[in-house]
Amino acid sequence: MTRLILGIETSCDETAAAVVGDGQHILSNVVATQIDLHRQYGGVFPELASRQHILTIKPVIEQALTTAQVGWQDIAAVAVTYGPGLAGSLLVGVNAAKGLAWARALPLIGVNHLEGHIYANWLRAGGNTAPPVPPVLVLIVSGGHTELILMHEHGRYTRLGATLDDAAGEVFDKVARLLGLGYPGGPALQRAAEGGRAQAFDLPLALRHDPKHRYNFSFSGLKTAVLRLTQALKADGAALPVADLAASFQRAVAEALVARILVAVDDFKVNQVCVCGGVAANVELRRQLAARLPAPHAVPPIWLCTDNAAMIASAGFYRYAAGQRSAWDLDVLPNLKLN
Ligand code: KG4
Ligand code: ZN
Repeated sequence: MTRLILGIETSCDETAAAVVGDGQHILSNVVATQIDLHRQYGGVFPELASRQHILTIKPVIEQALTTAQVGWQDIAAVAVTYGPGLAGSLLVGVNAAKGLAWARALPLIGVNHLEGHIYANWLRAGGNTAPPVPPVLVLIVSGGHTELILMHEHGRYTRLGATLDDAAGEVFDKVARLLGLGYPGGPALQRAAEGGRAQAFDLPLALRHDPKHRYNFSFSGLKTAVLRLTQALKADGAALPVADLAASFQRAVAEALVARILVAVDDFKVNQVCVCGGVAANVELRRQLAARLPAPHAVPPIWLCTDNAAMIASAGFYRYAAGQRSAWDLDVLPNLKLN
């Protein structure tokens, strides 16, 4: 019998709900994005985000059930993101999940948002026809996180390294703003890089040969290098070669990410590499992964890389199947870590 999990995700600026069967089969995946709302501020405005979640959460959940063509009697458990993320945003999802689960006498499963991103690789979509088999090496690259993780088995992780400063997505967003590109920065920068020369500018790759930081990342030097370069080019009075700058920057970020994966793949015996999070949507990162990794690797299709609730339902399913339940006093943890 297929066990259906209703997933709810409101950790940042997407209000999302999904119904997933056995952690793998997507019956519905509804994402109401707030991008237009936050565009004028050039980033997510937390207070506005939580207010918008309150307006959208009920219709989004209803649509997830309708699209999946299921009723509450078909749902086995409610899984919800309780951290990390924006406190006010997380609260909307957690309170909705608690209320609904309580009212229907369903188990409540709190899910770590980062674990959710990892489980996007367990969903049958795109080219992913079979779920990964741990141990796997995971790279999470999102707007708030850049972490290299060893997943030993379901729910058991060792954090090998992380960024020492900006997250990969954050540096995409900042450099996009610097180059006068749109919001959100990652997709805008990728579009701007089309047709640009990836080798046009030699940008620094931090920590490359630092033995103390075998699995860590640093992107602030790269950001500063692009800033200096644009300042120098502007001082020369020339038009900014935006496409070349974007292509070179994108190549450098992907190189830095893949370099750390290669080190870890060499150090640990894993069945495969899973890359996830918003930046995993990046075309140049995907190209380099395919070209440079010796081990098999998986990336979710683009629409499952960015925040969604199907990934939360998948992660929730494996916790549910292991008999785990959250208590009714489940609280939001904005700084929750993956351990
Ligand atoms: O995982 P996500 O949707 O939200 C967080 O949990 O942070 O990631 C959002 C981040 C943003 O920084 C966005 O600019 C970046 O992912 N992103 C991309 C691309 N699509 C989204 N970065 C580079 N290339 C892309 N195609
Ligand atoms: Zn995310």
